[in-house]
Amino acid sequence: MNILILGGGGREHAFAWKISQSPDCSGLFIAPGNAGTAAFGTNIELIPTDFPAVKKACVENQIDMLVVGPEEPLVLGIVDFFTADPELSEIMVIGPTAQGAQLEGSKAFSKRFMQKYQIPTAGYREFDAENYTEGSDYLKAHSLPIVLKADGLAAGKGVIICNSHVEAMAEFELMLQQNKFGEAGKRIVVEEFLDGIEVSIFLLTDGDHYVLLPEAKDYKKIGEGDKGPNTGGMGAVSPVPFADKAFMKKVTDRIIEPSIRGLREEGIDYRGFIFIGLIKVNGEPEVIEYNCRMGDPETEVVLPRLKNDLLALFRAVAERKLDTIQMDIDPRAVATMVVVSGGYPGSYEKGHTISGLDYKTKDSLIFHSGTRIEQGKVLTQGGRVLCVTSYAETLPEAIRKSIGVLHHIDFEGMYYRRDIGYEFL
Ligand code: AMP
Ligand code: GLY
Repeated sequence: MNILILGGGGREHAFAWKISQSPDCSGLFIAPGNAGTAAFGTNIELIPTDFPAVKKACVENQIDMLVVGPEEPLVLGIVDFFTADPELSEIMVIGPTAQGAQLEGSKAFSKRFMQKYQIPTAGYREFDAENYTEGSDYLKAHSLPIVLKADGLAAGKGVIICNSHVEAMAEFELMLQQNKFGEAGKRIVVEEFLDGIEVSIFLLTDGDHYVLLPEAKDYKKIGEGDKGPNTGGMGAVSPVPFADKAFMKKVTDRIIEPSIRGLREEGIDYRGFIFIGLIKVNGEPEVIEYNCRMGDPETEVVLPRLKNDLLALFRAVAERKLDTIQMDIDPRAVATMVVVSGGYPGSYEKGHTISGLDYKTKDSLIFHSGTRIEQGKVLTQGGRVLCVTSYAETLPEAIRKSIGVLHHIDFEGMYYRRDIGYEFL
């Protein structure tokens, strides 16, 4: 089978690493990929939202399966584009249709979905220019903190947690009247603040059945002790100790099963990943958000714990036979630590040479996020540059192993958080 992975981050490097181990993988292409994915297949220079370019790459390379990493092409309807084109319709695509991707692409859609299928989530209201005044009055009477969310995709920046009414009113105005998030913020969801500890769970569904992948917890803040601005993610761990059997039973009964049932009842053809961001409030799970893809850096701890052949799983998704799959999960602890460029998530430099990447140990893997190759050298090319994932019997040991590898890696301005998994140590 020839496979094309769309995307170019650590998530896609982890997909390439895992897919390349499958006996069914005869040709592997990654678009655009990075210096790390180049070791597992052929990188193709294109922008994942440029559907005609993706088509060309699929036709030229006789692709049998397309694995979509990021949310944007899914929300823009890449699955529908493939289905509608006779030259592409035979290709298996891992990812939901545009309608299914609305779970991530529209906060209002996902809140309505949860309300309809009685899935526990924070109470909310929707506002836009039409009911602006009603929204202002609603905000004034709202308990603090107030959570404002841009309806559409806003590159991870669309959620604002306000600690005062003045701040909430100002953000409300910026979003609805000054177009702070452009189209994405023309409608906003105002919701209650949920106080608890977060965990991410990952499903792969064929629309009728699903399998549960290992859960993970990510660390979004740039600074140790969860201080400073949000990033794309500074590290992740799996398993998450508090996501025990009793908790996961509640998650399955109250969240996973109704979500799969809801998608089916809505007539949505969902064949791909569902990433559910959960929060545990007084022992009970509530949904913070859905994503229509895997997480990054969560994939870099989830896939290393998956012992199944990933291509066999994907084939079962495409053929709606996931009920035939027996999951095989590595019981060991896995942690990943993300290395970023100095200045990130603000402005940062690119093009610094990375040394030490050939350092090898039995229990660690290096996944590239933002790198490129120039004249045989691997250079930094993004805010998040790479991550180091390690396996161990315990989480503290896994983290120690990753730090051990990180001592050998160097580039100008490099930074990483040393306290990943701190609550569980
Ligand atoms: P999202 O973009 O929906 O993932 O939100 C980003 C982050 O904002 C989440 O991971 C949470 O940490 C936080 N968040 C979102 N909604 C809420 C809420 N209702 N209560 C508390 N925190 C929230
Ligand atoms: N790490 C969070 C995300 O992928 O959305």
